[in-house]
Amino acid sequence: MTRRVVVVNGPNLNLLGKREPEIYGTRTLDDLYQVVRARAAKLGLEVSLFQSNDEGAIIDYLHQHGPGSAGIVINPAALTHYSVALYDCLQALALPVVEVHISNIHAREEFRAKSVTARAARGVITGLGFVGYELALEYLAAQE
Ligand code: DQA
Repeated sequence: MTRRVVVVNGPNLNLLGKREPEIYGTRTLDDLYQVVRARAAKLGLEVSLFQSNDEGAIIDYLHQHGPGSAGIVINPAALTHYSVALYDCLQALALPVVEVHISNIHAREEFRAKSVTARAARGVITGLGFVGYELALEYLAAQE
């Protein structure tokens, strides 16, 4: 059976390509999905892709699509810095989670250096652009 990984992007990441390109680059969310799909295919993984600007919608999606998956790659975007609800959700699912950020959250405003969701993650990849998602998939593919 093919192993499936859930890849979730949080608020404002639908604006990739247009949003602060000096920080997030000029490639779009669709470009990211292409990179993710190609890497997943090479690793023999299926992917469930989701983006929302709504915290509740992200939590509902994870409740629905997390169980039975091999793990979660999540860029919680701004939710990273304050969403205890998302942290609780990731903890409750008890799956391997990799948190990814396109920019280096430690090299920006001070409030970005704090992640409340990272405690629920096996690891955090921050500042490596789209490659971070590929590395997260590599990690999940290597798990039992
Ligand atoms: C981000 C970093 C967050 O601080 C920010 O709120 C985002 C994107 C990143 O991918 O670099 O929306 O998660």
